[in-house]
Amino acid sequence: MAVFVTRRIPAEGLRVLSQAGGFRVQQWDSEEPVPRAELLAGVAGKQGLLCLLSDRIDREVLDAAGGLSTMSVGFDHLALDEIKKRGVRVGYTPDVLTDATAELSVALLLSACRRLPEAVEQVKNGGWTTWKPLWMCGYGLSDSTVGIIGLGRIGQAVARRLKPFGVKKFLYTGSGPKPESGAEFEAEFVSLTRLAEESDFVVVTCALTPATQGMCNKDFFTRMKKTSVFVNTSRGSVVNQEDLYNALAHGQIAAAGLDVTTPEPLPTDHPLLSLKNCVILPHIGSATYATRSTMAVLAAKNLLAGLRGEAMPHELLL
Ligand code: NDP
Ligand code: DGY
Repeated sequence: MAVFVTRRIPAEGLRVLSQAGGFRVQQWDSEEPVPRAELLAGVAGKQGLLCLLSDRIDREVLDAAGGLSTMSVGFDHLALDEIKKRGVRVGYTPDVLTDATAELSVALLLSACRRLPEAVEQVKNGGWTTWKPLWMCGYGLSDSTVGIIGLGRIGQAVARRLKPFGVKKFLYTGSGPKPESGAEFEAEFVSLTRLAEESDFVVVTCALTPATQGMCNKDFFTRMKKTSVFVNTSRGSVVNQEDLYNALAHGQIAAAGLDVTTPEPLPTDHPLLSLKNCVILPHIGSATYATRSTMAVLAAKNLLAGLRGEAMPHELLL
């Protein structure tokens, strides 16, 4: 059987494929995304496809590809309706990146609420003249209310890490109450509007779906407190970026931290990048060497299991 890998992936993952008997591996051996034409040519005649979140896997690709495995937990880049219709089995990489992504979410939250990039810049550009009582002040987690949009694997891991900072109350929202997920943090299930109104920190860790697309919009930001901080480590499209820009620029909310944007990469002249109160990272939630290696291995194992007709270590159940 032959498989196509759409990018240079950690060697451990490629090794799983190349050492599996009976599989021929073709790879787009680059750090850059595979051009569309190369992707279509690459999958043609292959039984399996190992892709990344930056590859759009639509009907045309599925016409050529057999089994599918994505080196990501997010699956919004996959044409799920088409996949379901065709009965294509899909592997993905939940759990193994939860800790790394939660850690990054906390780092981003602290960077935004304590204004770390701005403060570092002041040290470098001579803005640090003396110790001043109100200079570079931000907002802390102690005694705060944290609202989590999507209390799934990563949402819970974020709450677990934030709790020791002295958070007073956790709120969460989603498609319905999840008492077993919220119990550890005594988290209360609330509507999106209540979460916006009562949270000092909003952390978005939901999946991107038709229901969550553009969910954080003008109405949402208008309801947030002027002193609140917004953090998104899910997908850029959950946020209406123009509305977020206006909220930040007009002091409707205090600050934001984004690990994900629309588009990615964000153009260097994008208005959000002109704001001091917006910290933007280049989608590095899962970017530790160990996590990316484990993701690649898991994606490879999923693909092989799917092609062999065996149970995948992690199959996306549609
Ligand atoms: P989970 O499936 O465990 O959690 C997803 C959460 O989304 C669930 O709690 C679900 O809540 C929630 N959700 C679904 N619909 C809605 C809705 N309408 N309103 C609010 N919440 C909703 O996934 P993970 O925690 O493992 O990953 C979450 C996402 O994080 C991924 O899909 C991916 O996009 C992103 N991600 C980003 C990374 C990065 O590098 N920045 C790294 C890893 C993941 P409910 O069960 O109530 O529907
Ligand atoms: C995912 O897996 O969905 C992340 O966005 C990258 O690790």
